[in-house]
Parts: sequence; C-alpha cells; structure tokens
Amino acid sequence: MTLKLFALPGDERFACRLAEETGAELLAADVRRFPDGESYLRLDDPVDGDSVAVVARLARPDPKIPQLLFAAALLREQGASCLGLVAPYLPYMRQDDRFKPGEAVTSATFAGWVSSHFDWLVTVDPHLHRYPSLDAIYSIPSCVLTAAPQIAEWIDRHVESPVVVGPDSESEQWVRAVADVNGLPWRVLEKTRYGDREVRVTGYDLGAVRDRRPVIVDDICSSGATLAEAARVLKEAGLKPSRCAVVHGLFNDDARRKLRDAGIEVIACSDSVDVDEAVIELIPTLAPEVVQISGGDRS
Ligand code: R5P
Repeated sequence: MTLKLFALPGDERFACRLAEETGAELLAADVRRFPDGESYLRLDDPVDGDSVAVVARLARPDPKIPQLLFAAALLREQGASCLGLVAPYLPYMRQDDRFKPGEAVTSATFAGWVSSHFDWLVTVDPHLHRYPSLDAIYSIPSCVLTAAPQIAEWIDRHVESPVVVGPDSESEQWVRAVADVNGLPWRVLEKTRYGDREVRVTGYDLGAVRDRRPVIVDDICSSGATLAEAARVLKEAGLKPSRCAVVHGLFNDDARRKLRDAGIEVIACSDSVDVDEAVIELIPTLAPEVVQISGGDRS
C-alpha cells in the first residue's frame, strides 16, 4: 500500500521532499483561513483505504492545532485506513509537571489529543526530561529520532577544535550524544530558571578546554535566554566566542538579538522549524522510519 502525505499549510515543500524520499504520494488539498480566522479544509485526492500521514512542523503550535485535528478528522471521514503524524518538532513537551497548584499539565493533554486522532507518531528529539519516554503520555506507537549525528557532522564540518557545551543538566543527553559521535570533549553547565525568559547559568571546570571553540548544544532555542547566558559564562571563563547548534530553532521574541548581543557568532539548527538558520536536514533521517512505521512501500 502506498503511503499518502497530507501537509499542513507552510509544510508543503517539506512534505514534498519527504514524499520524494519515501516514495509516498503528496495529497492535493486546500487548507486556508476564512476572514474570521476559522479554518477551511478540502481534500482533493481520494484516500479510501489508504495509509496516510499528516506532515506538520508544529513550532508556535496554537494556531496549527485545530488544523491538525480537523485534518485528522477529515482524513478518517474520507476513509484513511491508518493515520500517522510526522511532527519533527513535537510541541507541548516542556510543561511536564504541575510545578504550581492549579497548573495545566499541557504535555499530557496534548498527547491525549494526538493519541486519540492518530495511529502513530514520528518525531525528532522531543523534550523528554521528566518523562522517561513518549509512552508515558502517548498511547500510540511512536518513533523518536535524534538529530545528534547530523549536529555532530555539522560541527565536524564547521568548527575547528570544538568543545561541546550543554547549558544545563537537561541538555546532557544531547551533548553526550553529539560529542560521542566524534569523541569530542564536552562540558555541562548549570542553569537556574527564574521565569519564562529569565535564567542564570553558572560554569565550572572549563580550564582544560579553554583553548577550544565552544559549541553550545541544546534541544530548543526559544527566547534565547539559555544560549545567551551560557555564551556569557563561557566568555567570562576566557573561551573563544561561542557557536551554537540546536535541534529546534524556535527563536521566539527577540532571541536572535539576544544571541548576537551575547557574542554568539554562528547558530545552526535542524529544519524541524522553518527558519533561516535551518541548515541541518532531517528528511534523510525521517524517511526510512516513516516508511517502516507506516508499513508503506517505496514504490
Ligand atoms: C529547557 O527546558 C530546554 O532544553 C531549553 O534549554 C529551553 O527551552 C530554552 O529556552 P530559552 O531559549 O527560552 O531559554
């Protein structure tokens, strides 16, 4: 059975590349907004009995979530026999606990919505911190890929004599994985978060790597506060100006200005988010796993 792909608005080219790499067929559809902001969806190709995957890069997710769920409902109504979600950036993973009484644990609620609309999920480096795996909140089979080898390759091609640095303990999983590919030295700093956009990073044990070029590696750059603070610590410790490589470059608010002001020279991220800095391609990583989990043919 040939897999068919349905792209959310803005992700048509990404889905087209995934279709080329997997042998899947890109469905013709019209997804747009009415003047009042409500969504209109129309599917122009048949899917009766087909296996279908929705391709959705879900950075800044709130306007996209209704379209995602409407698309799932439409594809089911039209007869899709199996429905997957390819979401290289999986949002709503960071509120993974109730830190203050009355807070919504949105990670679990979002996971419930996705699990009740889709049969499988493929994603890249989700923010697994307090959850041991996606299975803790997602009840559908999921395939979790990592961009660590691609980030390691980017560092290898662009940075001479690097040391891989994580801004906080949560980043250690990515830092280790990236550093291990080419046997690079690595360090992890300590971060205390005071608010959505306020963090304080402290460093230690940087003497032995002082002559190396720091490459700060993290899963997400959102407000830019974490990377900027880490760069400040490294600069104060006498290291060269930092470069950064993150999986998901959200660059919210004035993140880019913050990163420039912190003296960060270069920042690279994957194309899980559609930004200018996205130089690390995920399609070659995603394609074989999408084929496998969907049971689709390379035809
Ligand atoms: C922490 O939970 C994440 O791994 C990132 O360090 C964090 O999301 C970055 O956020 P910001 O850019 O707003 O500091």
